Amino acid sequence: MMQIHSGGPKRPNVHVLGDYGPQAAQMIADAILTTIAETGRCRLGLAGGRTPAPVYGQLRALLPASAYRQLRVTWTDERVLEKVGHAPGDWQPFDPESNLRMAYAEWLSKVPISHENVLPMSLSGDARVELLRFGKAFRAQFDGGLDIALLGLGSDGHVASLFPGHPALDVDDLALAVHDSPKPPAARISLTLPVLKRARTVIILARGKAKSDVIVRAMAGDAALPVTRFLEHPRAFFLLDSAAARGIVLAELDAMTPGE
Ligand code: 6PG
Repeated sequence: MMQIHSGGPKRPNVHVLGDYGPQAAQMIADAILTTIAETGRCRLGLAGGRTPAPVYGQLRALLPASAYRQLRVTWTDERVLEKVGHAPGDWQPFDPESNLRMAYAEWLSKVPISHENVLPMSLSGDARVELLRFGKAFRAQFDGGLDIALLGLGSDGHVASLFPGHPALDVDDLALAVHDSPKPPAARISLTLPVLKRARTVIILARGKAKSDVIVRAMAGDAALPVTRFLEHPRAFFLLDSAAARGIVLAELDAMTPGE
């Protein structure tokens, strides 16, 4: 593991991980256990997409069974997909494309977490209904906030379902419905930027060379990118693999090279 930047304005903590799944999972597990030790609970928002799957798969071995009594899990965004009913705690009927199903398949179905401690973001294909249901439950069960927000990163700089130039970036409710996501499916529920930024800890997960350029742009402070809004967060951590970090590592090396 290599750390490129340590905190400070516009220089968040960037960790380049050689063994991505296990090392990212260890950092997330440490953050969960520290939050529980300090506050007696941990309200965790899970990222969607493909990047987190190998990370969630490693969490099972890193958290003691006792942690699940104080851990509450929801998502930072979810795809709104036609779903066929749902018995609390039963994840099988969920659409394979849902962020919930990925998290259950990799982690939550294998650990002793009560279904009362898991708050799905969308249970049907009706975004309006789901937004109302989720918003009420998020306020009641999570006090309308997160301790740890996990976010994936799109190559266009989006996080959760907050896309560049989208009006959703200006919404200051707890959550919102997006109907025109440029990343399919079009319909999604997402936590808002203010809620994500209020999280005690924000962990941004990015793997692969497709994310290298957007990370260079973000670290340079490109305000058009939603991810750039987190650069000055006091506890924002970018967890990258070497491919995603390539651009900023080369830029750091260039900056160290005396003028020719
Ligand atoms: C989703 C996610 C989305 C994702 C990024 C990165 O529902 O797809 O919320 O924000 O985290 O697009 O996706 P990958 O990890 O698959 O590259």
